[in-house]
Amino acid sequence: MNDTVEAHRAFYAQFIVRSAGSADPRLIDAFNAVPREGFVGPGPWPVFIGGGQYLPTISDDPRLLYQDILIGLATERGINNGQPSLHARCLAAAAPAAGDSVVHVGAGTGYYTAVLAQLVGSAGRVQAYEIEPDLAQRAAQNLRGHANVSVRAASATEGALPPADVIYVCAGATHPPAAWLDALKPGGRLVLPLTPNEGFGVMLQITRLDARRFAATALMRVSFIPCIGARDDATSASLAAALERQSLKAVRSLRRGDPPDSSAWCVGQGWWISSEAP
Ligand SMILES: C[S@@+](CC[C@H](N)C(=O)[O-])C[C@H]1O[C@@H](n2cnc3c(N)ncnc32)[C@H](O)[C@@H]1O
Repeated sequence: MNDTVEAHRAFYAQFIVRSAGSADPRLIDAFNAVPREGFVGPGPWPVFIGGGQYLPTISDDPRLLYQDILIGLATERGINNGQPSLHARCLAAAAPAAGDSVVHVGAGTGYYTAVLAQLVGSAGRVQAYEIEPDLAQRAAQNLRGHANVSVRAASATEGALPPADVIYVCAGATHPPAAWLDALKPGGRLVLPLTPNEGFGVMLQITRLDARRFAATALMRVSFIPCIGARDDATSASLAAALERQSLKAVRSLRRGDPPDSSAWCVGQGWWISSEAP
């Protein structure tokens, strides 16, 4: 019987990617290449069970990490290493290609940064932002072997971002900050959780088609801790109303600058989501 940690990781990589609706061999290989035990601290590990509660794993056997579970990184702050199948689905939507420049917002201790680094390869680059200094320090240490990664102990909502093919966001915003949309190259993808102040939000994939036009797709309902500096109460209310009354299937484009028209799905400050094609 092959019961090694490598065998568990290989099964997990297949399981989370295929159960997320993708069969992309590059994504399976990327998850298979990154040891989760290198990013979540020493075991036994706190497994998130909802409502701010955690259950410790039965031992520090790293094979236990290769399940579709969230692991606490800083439990007192509610910061977790996110659910693998959710990230598999979001990474499939972000579609980082070899050679791409990626900005990762909310890197935590770097596990999904490492998966992104595998996907872009040595010709690509991942610039990871983490606002909590201790987590950023852990990420930098955990990712020290990745020459194509740099970690910034800083907020990704202050100032400009570097030009990016992919911006992958792991904390809940009420709106896409203008600087993030500006940083997207033509053809670039922004995957971000748009979340109201209470309850579940929605994971959006935004693709920049050209200087002015952005396509948008709602991927799934999600819950995330807040993205500091990318939240306001008025947009939260507009988003909560849209999520209550409207179908996710109607989301088709993101508009900037233009006044909202009757196709508006959700209206923010200087941007809105439309149910019409870009
Ligand atoms: C849900 S945790 C995810 C951590 C990591 N992606 C993982 O799954 O292991 C979200 C992270 O975003 C960070 N964060 C929140 N606002 C941020 C901001 N404005 N800039 C950078 N990081 C931020 C938090 O400190 C937290 O570590």
